[in-house]
Amino acid sequence: MEVKEALLKRRSVRKFTEEPVTEEQINELIHAAMSGPIACNKRPWEFYVVTNPEMLKAFQSASRFTKISAPLAIVVCGNLKRALPLNMADFWIQDCSAATENILLRATDLGLGAVWCGMYPQRKPEKRVRELLGIDDKRIALNIIYIGHPAQEPEPKDWYEEACVYRVK
Ligand SMILES: Cc1cc2nc3c(=O)[nH]c(=O)nc-3n(C[C@H](O)[C@H](O)[C@H](O)COP(=O)(O)O)c2cc1C
Repeated sequence: MEVKEALLKRRSVRKFTEEPVTEEQINELIHAAMSGPIACNKRPWEFYVVTNPEMLKAFQSASRFTKISAPLAIVVCGNLKRALPLNMADFWIQDCSAATENILLRATDLGLGAVWCGMYPQRKPEKRVRELLGIDDKRIALNIIYIGHPAQEPEPKDWYEEACVYRVK
């Protein structure tokens, strides 16, 4: 699939069939995640690949926007132990966001559906997800990406808005 086609075709999918995502597809998604740009090559990220049905069910109550049933979730976390020092530390958010978008685009490319559910900076949902995963506070759960075979097909879209573009010549 051409990049432009994937960009336009990618929409948030929140309904999935029960068909599992294969290990091969999961590997493709994680490879895509780690192919993104990274500030100073720190790679301050961790990816928790969740297929455990009880854990997936528990994620649904993490926030009121995560009540989604999917065969797979990838939780993208920032690892503060690998972050840049001092006032550059927050670059982990941009690194992990680029990785997240890569997962969404590769999922589209593989014929899968996905939705990015933001956790950080919502304090309680973020903590809840970490508790469920059993990870310490040196990690921060940026989001849960639900992934699966789509049971809905949102229309491709082009939300171009000229008013948001300033041409500085
Ligand atoms: C930072 C961020 C947080 C989001 N959080 C949620 C969420 O908690 N639940 C959800 O269903 N969608 C969530 N979304 C998906 C947006 O609702 C969706 O991308 C937006 O409505 C545009 O629609 P589209 O993805 O189909 O183009 C989030 C997207 C981003 C970038």
